[in-house]
Amino acid sequence: MEKSGRLEVPVGIPGRGYSVWIGEGILDEAGAMVAEFAGVRGKCALVSDSNVMRIYGGRVRASLELAGFSVIAHEVPAGERSKSLQVVEGCIDAMVGAKLDRKSFVVALGGGVVGDLAGFVAAIYFRGIPFVQIPTTIVAQVDSAVGGKTGVNARGGKNLVGAFHQPKLVLADPATLGTLPEREFYEGFAEIVKHAVIRDASMLERIRPGARDGLSGLLAENVRIKAAIVAEDEKEEKDVRALLNFGHTVGHAIENASGYGEWFHGEAVSLGIVAALRLSRRYAGLPEVDEQRVTEILRSLQLPVRFPRSLSVEKILEAMKVDKKFSMGKMRFVLTPRLGEALVSGEVTESAVVEAIEELQE
Ligand SMILES: NC(=O)c1ccc[n+]([C@@H]2O[C@H](COP(=O)([O-])OP(=O)(O)OC[C@H]3O[C@@H](n4cnc5c(N)ncnc54)[C@H](O)[C@@H]3O)[C@@H](O)[C@H]2O)c1
Ligand SMILES: [Zn+2]
Repeated sequence: MEKSGRLEVPVGIPGRGYSVWIGEGILDEAGAMVAEFAGVRGKCALVSDSNVMRIYGGRVRASLELAGFSVIAHEVPAGERSKSLQVVEGCIDAMVGAKLDRKSFVVALGGGVVGDLAGFVAAIYFRGIPFVQIPTTIVAQVDSAVGGKTGVNARGGKNLVGAFHQPKLVLADPATLGTLPEREFYEGFAEIVKHAVIRDASMLERIRPGARDGLSGLLAENVRIKAAIVAEDEKEEKDVRALLNFGHTVGHAIENASGYGEWFHGEAVSLGIVAALRLSRRYAGLPEVDEQRVTEILRSLQLPVRFPRSLSVEKILEAMKVDKKFSMGKMRFVLTPRLGEALVSGEVTESAVVEAIEELQE
């Protein structure tokens, strides 16, 4: 649906539905849109990181204040390390200090780190207060801001502590992508390639490396895919939402094994996708040309497609075992039999994962 140049994508979760609005300049309308669509009043905590607060915090704050909200801004350091319980506590202290109560709400302004962190704070503050997502990276606009998975990392692993908490509204302004550094811009395409592989192979043709303009349509297509999957299986109780983990079993393990921050999420996922493609050939009959095609697209997006030898295969495997259970040497793994389709297989063995990674080493 389109309203004055904005695209609206509804997320049809029964009882908890909301819309994702995508449009250039939407950032300056945040206050009015929150007032119209989020069903909230009063005070809010505007949570952002040190980069994004500096660039966009003032505009969002002004827009919220103009609409009559009272805003306390809370800044956290940029980077994956802010997804920690310590930073959660800092947010909560600031909110208690500013007397935010159960009628207050949270606005998450930033990438996936801020969205996951601030969403989790909203999920547990007074046992849950409303929140609004204003994603400013591709990862966040096509993926993390939609679907209600919130949480932080713990010593034992990534996203170990979290909650399902759906936002009341998501406002994605593609103009914000213009200020993303090169590496942060490209990492986001890993999630777009993932969506294409599991649901819509034709989208692979619409990825244009480097173009920062005219992305609204592509972003909306991705949000539609994510929204449809989430609406069907909000809490990952069936195999449907699990398909979104394509490339993430190995991806998360790389992030865990190498310490947070060294690999960007999208870069680790790119390697995870390449490993999943190789395993898809072996277990699901994916044609070699399709593996090559997707690998070339990832490469054209400046994403890694070969495992550096410095990344220990044993460590990756060890990290995989933290969030995936092997039963009798086999694990559940998302595979693609042909581009545009995915399935969960229970056949993948530990040694096949090791072999795939070794074949894909530099
Ligand atoms: N909840 C979910 O369903 C879900 C899905 C995918 C990813 N994630 C999580 O998202 C996180 C990764 O998110 P990310 O890739 O957005 O990283 P990020 O939030 O760390 O942002 C990347 C970098 O870009 C900067 N930045 C953000 N927007 C900017 C802008 N418009 N201009 C200039 N700089 C900007 C940030 O300050 C940061 O330094 C991971 O923790 C991952 O686990 C969650
Ligand atoms: Zn991801």
